[in-house]
Amino acid sequence: MLQIAAIDRNGNERSIEAPPGITLMEAIRNEGMDELLAQCGGCCSCATCHVFIEQSGEGVIPQMSDDENDLLDSSDHRKPQSRLSCQIRLTPEMSGLRVAIAPED
Ligand code: FES
Repeated sequence: MLQIAAIDRNGNERSIEAPPGITLMEAIRNEGMDELLAQCGGCCSCATCHVFIEQSGEGVIPQMSDDENDLLDSSDHRKPQSRLSCQIRLTPEMSGLRVAIAPED
C-alpha cells in the first residue's frame, strides 16, 4: 500500500492508503473526498479531478499527455504543479505523494 496525503479545499489534510495500480483520482474518491468531482470518471475530458502536486514522493510522476495539458489550460487555477489526478496511475515509488485539491472552476 502507498501512503498519500490529500489536502481538501479547506486546508484539511487526510492520510490515504491506496494500492498501486489505481489512479490518484480513485484513491482520493475512495477516501470519500467528494469535492474532487471527477465527473467524466477518468476519461480525461472534464478537468474536475484537478490537483496540485505539493510533493511527489520518491517516484517520478509521468509526464502529462497533450490531452491533459490542453484540458488543464481550460482551468483558471492552473499552476506549474497542476495535474489531472485521473491521469496518474499509482506505483509503489509514489508513496509519500502529497496533493491538494484545486479550487473549483
Ligand atoms: S476525471 Fe475527468 S478529467 Fe479526470
